[in-house]
Amino acid sequence: MRRMELSELARKGFGSGADTYHRARPEYPRVALDHLHAALGLGPGARVLDLAAGTGRMSRHLVAWDCDVTAVEPSDAMRAEFTEGLPGVPLLAGTAEEIPADDGAFDAVVVAQAFHWFDGPVALREIARVLRPGGALGLIWNERDESLPEAARLSEVAGWTRNMPYDVGRDFRADLDASGLYAPAERRTTSWSDTLTHDQMTLRFSTLSYVNAMPAEERDALLVRVRAELARHPDPLDVPYLTDTFTARRLPS
Ligand SMILES: C[S@@+](CC[C@H](N)C(=O)[O-])C[C@H]1O[C@@H](n2cnc3c(N)ncnc32)[C@H](O)[C@@H]1O
Repeated sequence: MRRMELSELARKGFGSGADTYHRARPEYPRVALDHLHAALGLGPGARVLDLAAGTGRMSRHLVAWDCDVTAVEPSDAMRAEFTEGLPGVPLLAGTAEEIPADDGAFDAVVVAQAFHWFDGPVALREIARVLRPGGALGLIWNERDESLPEAARLSEVAGWTRNMPYDVGRDFRADLDASGLYAPAERRTTSWSDTLTHDQMTLRFSTLSYVNAMPAEERDALLVRVRAELARHPDPLDVPYLTDTFTARRLPS
């Protein structure tokens, strides 16, 4: 059965503050973008779907590579922000479980920081439907690297791993392979760091879906605790990240 409704948490978490989201969230590192570009064949004229496009962070790269981009995004607030930044890119309201596109319409589908929100098996079938045989799927996530104790402590104060709506760092190759619709998936992980002031870091925490979905009082109290923890760090500070990419080709049906 197809799930047409956006999950309640996604609706609350992405239903407001789209402009802050766009300013505060990290960029995808160049090396991971270059990998997606090569692995998915994201060159001029490639018909590419940016699925769960949000404010257009990934679409901007696809446009810069001269791809023929279509974006799909369910949240009205996110779509409004997307259109402001990328007025010429076709943008459709829709979900991963019911993609508003014809069979075989795309050479590649990219899902940036969003696959965990989907009903995985349903979405993988829908994505395979809109990909041409041999077309490629790429998933990408920026995740905070908690291997350093200071980074782990900051995440703990913010309740990050406890509250994220999925198993952070999960190996999504298993999900892709289990669908039986794609050739064996590949994973690549890039380690990098982002330099942020305390204000920027606090703003970034405020855009996490579980924080954005909190009642105002609870959210403010959490951000006060984050600020107090940040006071123990240099300003600006280096925030370590791991970026995971998963790529796979659709098998011929
Ligand atoms: C963390 S944002 C990522 C946005 C963008 N791809 C980026 O890289 O910044 C997650 C996005 O997934 C969208 N989303 C949540 N559930 C979805 C679903 N079932 N189908 C499609 N998009 C969904 C949200 O509305 C939100 O815009």
